[in-house]
Amino acid sequence: MKIIVANWKMNGDLDLVSAFIERINAIETKNTIVVCPPAALIREFNDFHHLIGAQNCFYEDKGAFTGENSPKLLKKLGCGCVIIGHSERRALFGETDEIVFKKHEAALRNELIPIVCIGEKANERVQWKHVLTKQIEKFIGAPLQNTIFAYEPVWSIGTGMIPTTEEIQEALAFIKNKLGRNVPCLYGGSVNASNAESILKVDTVDGLLIGGASLKPDEFAKITMM
Ligand code: PGA
Repeated sequence: MKIIVANWKMNGDLDLVSAFIERINAIETKNTIVVCPPAALIREFNDFHHLIGAQNCFYEDKGAFTGENSPKLLKKLGCGCVIIGHSERRALFGETDEIVFKKHEAALRNELIPIVCIGEKANERVQWKHVLTKQIEKFIGAPLQNTIFAYEPVWSIGTGMIPTTEEIQEALAFIKNKLGRNVPCLYGGSVNASNAESILKVDTVDGLLIGGASLKPDEFAKITMM
């Protein structure tokens, strides 16, 4: 059983929701499927047979935080999990390791499974171990029974470039070694129907976090059945 997560980012509309639900509800798979649409579309997934997640949440449950999404409300809307610390949030919205950790706590407090994203940038490839160590430092010793990590090398996101399966194996083994062998780890970055199977065969990979290819219902369906 693998965990296959669709991250729509700020894409999709009502038509895609209908097509996606129809296609993905029809498949039979032993894998766990999660869709993370933009927050404004979450309610449209009421008839989805699989799990729904959010792409982000704030670290407080309510208050004067204009434009933010409450983890408490996301839970009420039917979300089972939430992506935290995606590299786009770190790069474009100034999310630091500290903020990411607070959001992780907020998700757990509201019984949402956090999917914590980590990964090195293109100019950090040589020091990837150092970068990952810094990103997961705060989590060492924290309760992680209900947490998922996603290794997403920033240079691989949306670029069509992916690490070798050996590199993915090594990075996930490194993370599990630091945090505890039972922590589920996903791989994300340019996953598609052609490369997913070989990545899923890597022994340290517990699933995939998929951006671009998750916007194509047929392609995503294929991956979920691997
Ligand atoms: P991608 O995005 O599959 O389009 O590379 C993955 C992600 O950012 O989670």
